[in-house]
Amino acid sequence: MTAVPSPAPRPDRSGNRTEREFEFTAQDFEEVRRLIYSHAGISLSEAKVDMVYSRLARRLRAIGLASFRDYLALLKGGDAAEWEAFVNALTTNFTSFFREAHHFDILRDFLKTRRERPITIWSAAASTGEEPYSIAMTAVEALGDARTGVQIMASDLDTQVLQKARDGVYPMDRIARLDEARQQRFFLKGTGHREGMVKVRPELQGMIRFFQLNLLDAQWAVSGPLDVIFCRNVLIYFDKPTQYRILQRMKPLLKPDGLLFLGHSEALYHAADLFRPRGQTVYEHARPGETRTRGSSAGCVA
Ligand SMILES: C[S@@+](CC[C@H](N)C(=O)[O-])C[C@H]1O[C@@H](n2cnc3c(N)ncnc32)[C@H](O)[C@@H]1O
Repeated sequence: MTAVPSPAPRPDRSGNRTEREFEFTAQDFEEVRRLIYSHAGISLSEAKVDMVYSRLARRLRAIGLASFRDYLALLKGGDAAEWEAFVNALTTNFTSFFREAHHFDILRDFLKTRRERPITIWSAAASTGEEPYSIAMTAVEALGDARTGVQIMASDLDTQVLQKARDGVYPMDRIARLDEARQQRFFLKGTGHREGMVKVRPELQGMIRFFQLNLLDAQWAVSGPLDVIFCRNVLIYFDKPTQYRILQRMKPLLKPDGLLFLGHSEALYHAADLFRPRGQTVYEHARPGETRTRGSSAGCVA
């Protein structure tokens, strides 16, 4: 077997060359890439070899295995608990409250125009919850008491982040950039052993239903019609055909006048027949007959 070319061995902080604790061959890395791609759609580039090693080495230590070969055999044997840990280890969960703040201004204005109830919103890669809670705060601010007609669904593949989302407990510095009024209105300050932490108020938590959902699964436990879909900063981990298939499945779930929010680097040139830009990475249904504009590829069709 050939060893992964880079970066083992490499210098530690003191400048000495260190060997990896576990052998990690190019074949092991390929196998990891294949497994996570087929299960979660996540495309790991060659550049992720260090990240993959360090995240999975933790798993080997935790379950007392001596080699990646044994670890991969465990996964291929179908160990359900380890599959969950494997997926959790390889997802990237960065998020923040009111990330890409302009989206929430657009959402606020949109919610004010909605007359029908319920208003249904799906956060399709909710991570640790900051996104769905920001949606809930926006709804409260936009609609006041009428927010009772707002239903938010928040899903993610990673069970660990979902648990954090459900708990709604965060280090205080996560809300430092929110203005004082929002901090007071929507969070409770921890005391005693929770000093330095904040908890989302039950009022917001009651607006959101959290559940696990793999965007690659054949069935989604989400039914339309939805007013809004947030699918931000997750499509970037998928290849273009996978992105297209997911968007194609989201389309019939979204009301004809609904909005789709994507992350800042997730342009939909390859899916222009499905959605068209409405400005600042917000999308609406493409008009019938609208076709792909750039980056069009037959390989994108599901
Ligand atoms: C970078 S976070 C984005 C969080 C939030 N949407 C935001 O923009 O701040 C990406 C999330 O996508 C989730 N994810 C990755 N693959 C997924 C899949 N196949 N199905 C559902 N969620 C997935 C990860 O677990 C992670 O929490």
